[in-house]
Amino acid sequence: MSPMQIDVVPDEPTLAVRAADAICTAVLAKPDAVLGLPTGNTPIRAYREIARRIERGQADFRRAIVYAIDEFADATRTTPGTNSVFYREHLRFPVGALHIPNPAARDANEHIVAFADALRRSGGFDLCVLGIGRNGHIAFNEPGSAADAPACVVDLAPASREAHAATFGSLDAVPARGMTLGVDDILAARAILVLAHGARKATIVRAAIEDAPSAEVPASWLQTHAAVTWLLDEAAASQLAPR
Ligand code: PGA
Repeated sequence: MSPMQIDVVPDEPTLAVRAADAICTAVLAKPDAVLGLPTGNTPIRAYREIARRIERGQADFRRAIVYAIDEFADATRTTPGTNSVFYREHLRFPVGALHIPNPAARDANEHIVAFADALRRSGGFDLCVLGIGRNGHIAFNEPGSAADAPACVVDLAPASREAHAATFGSLDAVPARGMTLGVDDILAARAILVLAHGARKATIVRAAIEDAPSAEVPASWLQTHAAVTWLLDEAAASQLAPR
């Protein structure tokens, strides 16, 4: 039986408030916390909520150290659709440091391995926040990723490239490769918060939480971690067995 905590809230706005609560609580407890913060549609409203709290003086992230959990390869820091651009647009509050892999790195593999080393040297994640891809990926650990998969360059799954076609402008513009922290880097976090909303995520959320852990659904490896909270809206939780 997995020790994971499953919190279901009515809707996306509530999920954003609860996610902001959890992230702000981690930073209040440890102002220089090391945070993994994801990109994607899922966390945008939560980041806006955190920015609002900071503007009102209710939170302070100026000592928090933020690491991106993945980035595209074979692009630049200003290519629309990259995570570098995402953070500039959506993480609109001051942090102590924001580390993002360089999409223009000449040797992407060497670069992401060094990036993961830097994360470990900074103490590893106090809290790693994740979204989940519809194919079960966490960061860019695509289906087939083992529990001990290290930081690496990956060939992006067709589903992952399709999910980003709009932000890059077209499917052809989406890079074929990404750089990702490994499943092992994520599982080394002291606490993990997974966010998912919407009916489109219901099938994969159920598989990740209820099926035996396997490389087919990388998010299912989270069942092996001692401090995981899933924060779901009712639509994303709609296929879970009653609990
Ligand atoms: P999404 O992406 O938040 O845009 O659904 C999640 C993910 O791919 O991890």
